[in-house]
Amino acid sequence: MEKAKEYALVTGASSGIGREFARQLAKEGYGLLLVARRGERLQKLKDELKRETPVDIRILPADLSFRAECGLVAREAAKLPLRIVINNAGFGDFGEFTETELSREMQMIDVNVTAQHIILKKALQYFEKKGEPGFILNVASSAGLLPGGPYMASYYASKAYVVSLTRSVREEVRKKSGKVAVSALCPGPVDTEFNQVAHVKFALKSISAEECVRYALKKLKKGRAVIVPTFMMRAGVVLSRLVPPALAVRIAGKQQEKKMGKE
Ligand SMILES: NC(=O)c1ccc[n+]([C@@H]2O[C@H](COP(=O)([O-])OP(=O)(O)OC[C@H]3O[C@@H](n4cnc5c(N)ncnc54)[C@H](OP(=O)(O)O)[C@@H]3O)[C@@H](O)[C@H]2O)c1
Repeated sequence: MEKAKEYALVTGASSGIGREFARQLAKEGYGLLLVARRGERLQKLKDELKRETPVDIRILPADLSFRAECGLVAREAAKLPLRIVINNAGFGDFGEFTETELSREMQMIDVNVTAQHIILKKALQYFEKKGEPGFILNVASSAGLLPGGPYMASYYASKAYVVSLTRSVREEVRKKSGKVAVSALCPGPVDTEFNQVAHVKFALKSISAEECVRYALKKLKKGRAVIVPTFMMRAGVVLSRLVPPALAVRIAGKQQEKKMGKE
């Protein structure tokens, strides 16, 4: 297999949004470095993509809840001519804060916050050292644009961190070189394995991963800071800013309660 001219790193590529990024980027001709814990899923995806495209695809099974494995991923990615980083691996959990499992929440913070933070920093340092343009997409959530979300409190907070970090770092990059686009993807419900993992049912209509990723890639390449797929979600985000934060949190809580059958 010939080395591709440009590569994309995709974390959380074994399922859902990450797997769809891999599919669409392979079609665009990017070589790929695919990361997730389930190596057999990554191998299956690699086999599928190799039948459809001639690009070089590398898989790297890694558990990003361990900082050492985040470092390993960053070192392997830095050996390639990287152009795009899709910082996507993550998961949610549902339930009352006093009842949800602390160890699972700590793991969520390790993956959704710490791993995304490490990979963002390492990717930016890579692009700066090379002096080359690049695109970094931190996959947050529309949850990260709201002031809070009862019954998914840790998940909302983890995604708010990603949005805030993205906005700040993006401004630093703009002032320094402007060569790297740092963006946050903030979708509403997307039809993936997210629900199964988080033990929830969406209260709103979901979109396909294909639609979400197609929109995200288009806006990423235009350098959009915060990318929210679908008009309805964008309208929802704007409306949520028109009400006081406490009311926005109460409405978000009502939506979540529907998932618990409390309504
Ligand atoms: N689906 C939605 O409605 C939605 C909406 C907004 C934002 N998001 C965000 O989109 C991202 C992708 O989620 P998804 O919807 O595509 O869910 P998904 O189908 O469950 O995919 C999650 C991906 O993250 C990977 N992952 C989880 N823990 C990991 C770990 N410790 N180390 C390495 N990889 C890990 C999983 O791989 P392994 O299990 O193989 O490790 C999987 O590839 C997440 O950050 C999520 O918060 C999703």
